[in-house]
Amino acid sequence: MFINAKLLFTITKWLKIGGDSKIVNLTPANKNRRDAMGKVIAISNQKGGVGKTTSAINLGASLAVLEKRVLIIDADPQANATSGSGFDIKKVKTSIYECLIEDADPRKIILNSEIEMLDLIPSHIDLVGAEIEMLNMNEREYMLKNVIGQIRDDYDYILIDCSPSLGLITVNALTAADSVIIPVQCEYFALEGLGKLLNTINIIQRGLNPDLEIEGFLLTMYDGRLRLSNQVVDEVKKHFQQMVFETIIQRNIKLSEAPSFGKPAILYDAESRGAVSYLNLARELLQRNEETLLKQEEKVLD
Ligand SMILES: Nc1ncnc2c1ncn2[C@@H]1O[C@H](COP(=O)(O)OP(=O)(O)OP(=O)(O)O)[C@@H](O)[C@H]1O
Ligand SMILES: [Mg+2]
Repeated sequence: MFINAKLLFTITKWLKIGGDSKIVNLTPANKNRRDAMGKVIAISNQKGGVGKTTSAINLGASLAVLEKRVLIIDADPQANATSGSGFDIKKVKTSIYECLIEDADPRKIILNSEIEMLDLIPSHIDLVGAEIEMLNMNEREYMLKNVIGQIRDDYDYILIDCSPSLGLITVNALTAADSVIIPVQCEYFALEGLGKLLNTINIIQRGLNPDLEIEGFLLTMYDGRLRLSNQVVDEVKKHFQQMVFETIIQRNIKLSEAPSFGKPAILYDAESRGAVSYLNLARELLQRNEETLLKQEEKVLD
């Protein structure tokens, strides 16, 4: 059954944010903003378990609730975004693997989620072998970009959930993307390995995808009771300044429980801190992109 985006929007319209009593109005941003082409955002960090998949599922669901047409591409053989969106990975017959390797039509592979405006291209364990199979193929770094090119117009936002590696599939994701969200867990060694990721992004910007931008660093699993969490926030903000999303994703049990029910947190418990964190992130992302677009329009008018 579809959950109508309007219904969900009404449920979540006046949620309390975090621990304080600030009320946030979740008015949908201008629906006509990206009529022509969806924005492609890779969610990447080669460090494992930092919240990439949780962010893909919950940011995707939140954007869909805010009436954006959203596609999540599961680009990780672990297929956590597929199972976490409610699909039985044992029953997935065709996946992103067939799109990449066998030129399958992505429109025939897209699955409709429980949320009306949220779709998914699933993954499969077969994707493990894809990197080796792709090695001898022409334009092997552009294969995902070519797949996305076929469906880009159907969506406002396409989120790619990357695996914890900087292998060829992730290079494909960064080559196909307009921007990248880098989740950083508020934990020990938060910044560890980020240099490698930034270096990879830099190499891709210099060759495969000069337009790739960093959408933002996203602090995840924040626990305000822990001094460590606050130290990580300070450190990441010191390093990356305005590139860090203002929204910080709280550590919240509902976010870790929801995938076992195959639901984003907003369907599992819409008032949970986790669901609210990702709604706020979606609003921030829309606001930022809205502003960018307005500036571009002004430039055109000049
Ligand atoms: N804000 C949060 N609060 C509580 N638990 C969380 C939160 N974010 C993620 N988790 C949990 O932490 C674990 C790792 O999260 P997730 O799978 O999203 O990370 P990942 O970066 O995609 O991992 P991988 O590198 O293996 O793909 C999961 O069990 C998830 O449910
Ligand atoms: Mg993951």
